Amino acid sequence: MQFDPEKLRAYYADHPDDISLDDVDLERIPRHVSIIMDGNGRWAQSRGLDRSQGHVAGVDSLREAVTTSVRLGLDVLSVYAFSTENWRRPQHEVDLLMHLFATTLVNELPLFHQENVRLRFFGDLSALPEQTRLVFQRGLDETADHSGMVFALAVNYGSRAEIVRAARELVGEALEGKLSAEDVCEEALAERLYTAGLPDPDLLIRTSGELRLSNYLLWQLAYTEFYVTDTLWPDFSRWDFLRAIVSFQGRSRRFGGVVAS
Ligand code: IPE
Ligand code: IPE
Ligand code: MG
Repeated sequence: MQFDPEKLRAYYADHPDDISLDDVDLERIPRHVSIIMDGNGRWAQSRGLDRSQGHVAGVDSLREAVTTSVRLGLDVLSVYAFSTENWRRPQHEVDLLMHLFATTLVNELPLFHQENVRLRFFGDLSALPEQTRLVFQRGLDETADHSGMVFALAVNYGSRAEIVRAARELVGEALEGKLSAEDVCEEALAERLYTAGLPDPDLLIRTSGELRLSNYLLWQLAYTEFYVTDTLWPDFSRWDFLRAIVSFQGRSRRFGGVVAS
């Protein structure tokens, strides 16, 4: 599915007072947006619900974020769904999340087919329950030949573990005589990260107001623009997405250089 301006207009037709599609420069849409989906627990607790209800509600926001990204014509949407540190949560919450990942993926496969979305994962999937792993593999197989947007789900992902894994691979190849010290460069390391072949994120969105990275894409975010909103993930809508993009478009990205005056 290619970028379709008509569909985008229709998708953003009824807009709130403070923002509309006209505020966005469609020629300067970021290629890769990444989201730290945070605040599900607080969303639920503020309503007197169980934290798990927040995660369930968060799935609706994720579906909308995928559709929004496709409509806007992004090349890549990546989202942080479960960190290497999230295993510290109560077992019942971990179990619920693993189950939710599996059921969500099955339920969303028709959307991925319809929108030509190719699935990808960041993280060590070997530690996941078998049922979740099998469903993830099915998602990868069924979307492998899709040529539209890449949707990457970071599950059991930790940036430090990712970099250690890449370093280990390099050392292994060096010990086999396939690499020398001079071959170890930024590109060689980047090729061994889960994000290999993808552009670095242009824009990182974090919901629920936390001003930290929580071990997410430390290497890849070197020159990414950050947008933090107090909105909790289950409340994050296509309009919040647009607000993030408008903010991004107001930035001057210098990459260490100077802007010609
Ligand atoms: C993000 O919401 C979802 C995951 C980390 C899986 P949280 O569960 O972290 O929600 P808060 O931060 O406790 O509100
Ligand atoms: C980051 O959120 C991980 C995900 C969103 C999956 P956390 O809620 O786990 O982060 P901390 O604990 O507040 O840093
Ligand atoms: Mg959190």
